[in-house]
Amino acid sequence: MSIDSQSDTDLLEILPDKLAVLVKQSIPKHVAIIMDGNGRWAQAQGKPRVVGHKAGVKAVRRAVSSARSLGVESLTLFAFSSENWRRPDKEVSLLMSLFFTVLTREIKLLDKNGVRLNIIGDTSRFSTRLQKQIVTAQEQTAGNKDLVLNIAANYGGRWDIMQAAKKLAVKVESGLMSSEEVTEEALNEQLCMHGQAEVDLMIRTGGDYRISNFVLWQAAYAELVFTEMLWPDFDEDAFKDAIVKFSSRQRRFGLTGTQIDTISAL
Ligand code: IPE
Ligand code: IPE
Ligand code: MG
Repeated sequence: MSIDSQSDTDLLEILPDKLAVLVKQSIPKHVAIIMDGNGRWAQAQGKPRVVGHKAGVKAVRRAVSSARSLGVESLTLFAFSSENWRRPDKEVSLLMSLFFTVLTREIKLLDKNGVRLNIIGDTSRFSTRLQKQIVTAQEQTAGNKDLVLNIAANYGGRWDIMQAAKKLAVKVESGLMSSEEVTEEALNEQLCMHGQAEVDLMIRTGGDYRISNFVLWQAAYAELVFTEMLWPDFDEDAFKDAIVKFSSRQRRFGLTGTQIDTISAL
């Protein structure tokens, strides 16, 4: 049967429910942000890069509040990539201590606002003190339901896929599953943000057009929004602008525009 002779009901029958919902979605369930440009923001004012990172924390607060008020379910923020260890030691250690301070200082407010904190990434490379603080913060907010805030720290999209593959390999090796059972779903279940919606919208500030090894698998069909704005300047209006861009896009998921129009009208 050709697409053109497909009736509306035929179309709905061949589509998984999940896809029909995704097509009609105007507010993204999951927003992921590459918070870039802190260093340049500070340097433009003749200040050390760390000043930009500190100003970036304020922008994080604003993004969390925007996501909550717009009804976003998950917000994933790229705070430190697996490649950021290549930076000068001094900047890395400043970032680590800032991470510890922010985690300690902000947790009460996050908890009060119903935010569940989830750190994604290989935390084993962090100091014992920081690792303990991460566990405490996650436990304290574990029951919260308003927003999931995933902080990607020592995170890499390739690392995430690799660690999921390794878990499956261990299962196969120990006879708990067969290699035929290694499916997309099975791998998906082992990824860091399993159980949350896939990334609908990925934003990058700072004027570069790349993904820098951020969420790869989960952003396979994300809408991408790039802005010249440097992260410390990112505010509620900028967040709303990105959402408006998202809702004006036609997400096709491999279908034709005509099929999408039909689904949207149903
Ligand atoms: C993003 O800002 C924050 C981190 C990577 C930790 P940058 O520090 O990359 O800022 P620019 O890109 O150098 O301006
Ligand atoms: C991406 O920014 C990582 C974070 C925002 C934490 P980078 O500044 O590290 O990215 P590249 O190196 O310019 O690609
Ligand atoms: Mg950068």
